Amino acid sequence: MKSTYIIANWKSNKTVSEARQWFSQISNDQYSITNTQVVLCPSFPLLSVCKELINKYSLSWKLGAQDISPFPSGKYTGEVNAIQVKEFADYVIVGHSERRQHFGETDDVITQKVKQAISAGLTPILCVQGKDTPVPEGVKIIAYEPIFAIGTGNADTPQDAEDVLSFFKGKGIEIGIYGGSVTGDNIAGFLSQPSIDGVLPGTASLDPSAFSSLIAHA
Ligand code: PGA
Repeated sequence: MKSTYIIANWKSNKTVSEARQWFSQISNDQYSITNTQVVLCPSFPLLSVCKELINKYSLSWKLGAQDISPFPSGKYTGEVNAIQVKEFADYVIVGHSERRQHFGETDDVITQKVKQAISAGLTPILCVQGKDTPVPEGVKIIAYEPIFAIGTGNADTPQDAEDVLSFFKGKGIEIGIYGGSVTGDNIAGFLSQPSIDGVLPGTASLDPSAFSSLIAHA
């Protein structure tokens, strides 16, 4: 049986007390499914408390950041660098379409972020919008995230996602993830495709019961 990834992208949501509340509700459920790797991606200020809560509730989850600086440590006011993130997390989402859209991220900046991530020992999860998104060297995990499906309730079809991810797997990518309006109701259809190893839910990761439903149907 292949192992399954659920990469929860909280985006710019939740305070420390809301994160504590979320964990206390989640921990009431059973998470003994050994082949499912949850990677929780909260905002930077929540990484520390989420690490503490994962330990407190004895969850075998990993943490990821939603972004990192394209630069190393140094004179870059406002940036959070890969070495700082690595103190808490093992993964980092790079090149999400919201970063491209609202923060003007280009393929060149994304390549620099991937380089920084890899040199700090973080595993980058590269978001692509289709087959024509360039993939920087060293990327092993690709998340296919079609823009029309993000936060709209209008997921792509498992067949389309399979088509895109099998294309990237043919180019040596090891892990294929689908993101865009994933719910407990449609997750199984994506995971049943041979090239899809996991999902990247945003909205459905925010509510503890919606998230529990995702895990239950994975
Ligand atoms: P969504 O977000 O699940 O709310 O569509 C997915 C994403 O943007 O990663």
